[in-house]
Amino acid sequence: MDVTQIFQDKVTWFQNPDIVPYVFVRDENLISQPGKKHRLDWFSKAPIIKDPLDLKELPFAEYIYHIENIAFGPSAMPMPRWVFYDCAVMPGFVCGFAYKKDKMPTSLKAKLPDFGDIDYVPLSLFIIIPTMHKGEWVAHNLCSVNSFLDKSDQFYGLGFLSKAFGLWYANVELCSGMTQWGSPALKLHSHYGHLEVIGAYAPVHSHAKTVTYRAQVNANTWELFFSKDVDLEFLEQYEKSGFEINPTDEKSMIEIQNKIQNNEGPFYLNASEILSKDLKAPLSIYRPKGY
Ligand SMILES: CC(C)(COP(=O)(O)OP(=O)(O)OC[C@H]1O[C@@H](n2cnc3c(N)ncnc32)[C@H](O)[C@@H]1OP(=O)(O)O)[C@@H](O)C(=O)NCCC(=O)NCCS
Repeated sequence: MDVTQIFQDKVTWFQNPDIVPYVFVRDENLISQPGKKHRLDWFSKAPIIKDPLDLKELPFAEYIYHIENIAFGPSAMPMPRWVFYDCAVMPGFVCGFAYKKDKMPTSLKAKLPDFGDIDYVPLSLFIIIPTMHKGEWVAHNLCSVNSFLDKSDQFYGLGFLSKAFGLWYANVELCSGMTQWGSPALKLHSHYGHLEVIGAYAPVHSHAKTVTYRAQVNANTWELFFSKDVDLEFLEQYEKSGFEINPTDEKSMIEIQNKIQNNEGPFYLNASEILSKDLKAPLSIYRPKGY
């Protein structure tokens, strides 16, 4: 399917001049050469840059908290304010898309409180934090207003494009992250580069049924999220291992976790398969061919 057409038909908000990417990053953490690593012409609009340490920007942060807390409320993981400040704003990079406040549709305004004097209202949030492992960033948070808007008011692709923008802008080549088995977010996370499962079960986390992943970021395949075409490159490189993870069966997670610990991996997930399956359906575990 032609991605340009999909953007025109379904990702209509993306060309709206009143919706722009934002970067909410303290001065010292600003990226010196944004967008230099990945060849991609999607993000031609200049982002608005906001300083989270500037008191005038507090309403922007309040909107972020509000959206995040509604999005993560159902999974009991709303982000405490100190976590955002200590673990995201100080060490990391925060971004997303924002709507010019005085141009927002009434249906959207009705879903949000008014946090006061501010030019733009954030619609999504993506946080990445650099790790001690050289070159690796950890994706710490991703959410969008789509999680609480009626289907007809949603901004199709907002969550996906928020993470894509952050990875592109910050020149991220290796990205790890955590999400819960069976989460819709896995459909997004698996599309930024072949997704290695580095942990299949995480009882150290507040949700043990968490998958920990790592991906070598490859912007060439991002359009597959929209086209829903099969990732042929993935099928050339990997084959089914014969193992599966069942998002409703903790035992299957522990089994794969033990195999990872026994160095029987590396194990990967197939993005096309995840996209086409129900959230609760078992997922095939892949390994590199001839391994
Ligand atoms: C998960 C989340 C970030 C996705 O962002 P989004 O803006 O809703 O999603 P996008 O518009 O970018 O992408 C839409 C696609 O995502 C998938 N998707 C999103 N929500 C879905 C759901 N509830 N069920 C199934 N698939 C879903 C589908 O593939 C959909 O495309 P399709 O309609 O053509 O099938 C957002 O719903 C959210 O904030 N959720 C709550 C917080 C959360 O769980 N964050 C992830 C933590 S790792």
